[in-house]
Amino acid sequence: MNRILVIGASGQIGTELTLELRKKYGNDQVIASDIREAPEDVMESGPFEIFDVMDDVKLYEVIKKHHIKKIYLLAALLSGTAEKHPKKAWDLNMKSLLTILEMAKDKIIDQIFWPSTIAVFGPTTPRINTPQLTIMEPSTVYGISKQAGERWCEYYYHKFQVDVRSLRYPGLISYKTEAGGGTTDYAVEIFYEALKEKKYHCFLKEHTKLPMMYMADALRATIDLMEAAPHRIKIRSSYNLSALSFTPHEIAKEIKKHIPEFCIYYDPDFRQQIADSWPESIDDSESRKDWGWSHEYTLPLMTEIMLREVAKKLTN
Ligand SMILES: NC(=O)c1ccc[n+]([C@@H]2O[C@H](COP(=O)([O-])OP(=O)(O)OC[C@H]3O[C@@H](n4cnc5c(N)ncnc54)[C@H](O)[C@@H]3O)[C@@H](O)[C@H]2O)c1
Repeated sequence: MNRILVIGASGQIGTELTLELRKKYGNDQVIASDIREAPEDVMESGPFEIFDVMDDVKLYEVIKKHHIKKIYLLAALLSGTAEKHPKKAWDLNMKSLLTILEMAKDKIIDQIFWPSTIAVFGPTTPRINTPQLTIMEPSTVYGISKQAGERWCEYYYHKFQVDVRSLRYPGLISYKTEAGGGTTDYAVEIFYEALKEKKYHCFLKEHTKLPMMYMADALRATIDLMEAAPHRIKIRSSYNLSALSFTPHEIAKEIKKHIPEFCIYYDPDFRQQIADSWPESIDDSESRKDWGWSHEYTLPLMTEIMLREVAKKLTN
């Protein structure tokens, strides 16, 4: 009885992480939950609870009912959406984390995974090979909430020995579930539009370079971090994590190798300013050294897989 609860299991990461955890630990060991229903394979492969993470009473009930010992807290408002609903983003991103940290402090649960992001960095951060420890003055609501979250994680670890682990995910690219309102979502949408319309109107400028990662790498990083022996986890705020960095121009060039008639147009919107405040590339040497992280997916490999899998999805 050492069950896992995934909160936010209907989202871009949650759907795939739930299935991966179920494959590894058994379907009935992983309880998926969200405020809305998940795709069929998540709903049908194991237990699913619909509730709002802001409802502490219901959360406690679910934890007790299923004998939960580990929580992956993925529910959040992402960068684009958070700028439209700042107060809601702050409330959700902060309260959900503090509630769960308190539960670990009270020994109701044993271990927490909570994702941070490259949005914790800001316009005054060195943008190339951004170090683990550096200036952090985020200028977005999302970044502010995640940076505060990192401080809380470290605080609960030092003060109450809460086993909380975290990664600063870059923009994640996947085909299974729609992206959830982030600034790097263009790198997912582009594949759908390339296959459907042979053209894409990008909301970022041509040469805006951002750190990115293919979902399979992110899932492996998450599970490896959670399974690492506690003495190997030296950073309890959140680890830098890196795989690729590319611009809209570079991904479009890669897509053109498969769809020569594909055209990209640039119509930057409010998300350009967000992207301009983020790093271009990340130094993740601490992750590599402490718990053995290394990425597998390159831009050409990811492009090939995305085009193949999105094409299958569109024909179904
Ligand atoms: N996707 C990325 O590129 C990326 C990058 C960096 C960090 N992250 C972080 O990873 C986590 C998951 O991101 P994602 O891309 O899967 O986001 P997403 O928006 O796709 O999924 C979030 C899920 O949380 C659920 N949710 C929202 N409010 C809720 C509530 N009150 N109660 C219960 N569930 C609620 C939503 O319904 C949604 O299914 C977030 O914390 C995000 O900040 C994601």
